[in-house]
Amino acid sequence: MVAISWDDSYSVHVESIDAQHKKIMSLLNDLHRISITDAGDQQLEAALTSLLEYTRAHFHYEESFLEKFHFPFVKSHQEKHAGFFTAIERIKKELLNGRGKNNKKLINYMVTWLKYHIVSEDKQYVCFMLEHGIK
Ligand SMILES: [Fe+2]
Ligand SMILES: [Fe+2]
Repeated sequence: MVAISWDDSYSVHVESIDAQHKKIMSLLNDLHRISITDAGDQQLEAALTSLLEYTRAHFHYEESFLEKFHFPFVKSHQEKHAGFFTAIERIKKELLNGRGKNNKKLINYMVTWLKYHIVSEDKQYVCFMLEHGIK
């Protein structure tokens, strides 16, 4: 069972970004798989770290193009990305404080956020990126 799976409705028609979104989904599925086995905290933590590090790099990749070519809504897109990490930190703290029994809440949040962000927010810059020759 996977937490999220790729289909063409997620495509933003920019090859490099589609590839990065697929990788994020795959790391999210790794985390999900580990969270439903009786893997230790260390393994779980390592999977979460890989996912968050890769996601941070992906956000940076998007933002660097949006900034370079003066995308008019770059600030608001950056704020969406920053909001993701703020929420993740809050949920992580709740889990560490014992208010969450497992990592379901964290994973569900990430799945919902990612789906919405790709389909509704990343897609806003597609024409802009293509116009500037980014593939
Ligand atoms: Fe993205
Ligand atoms: Fe984005």
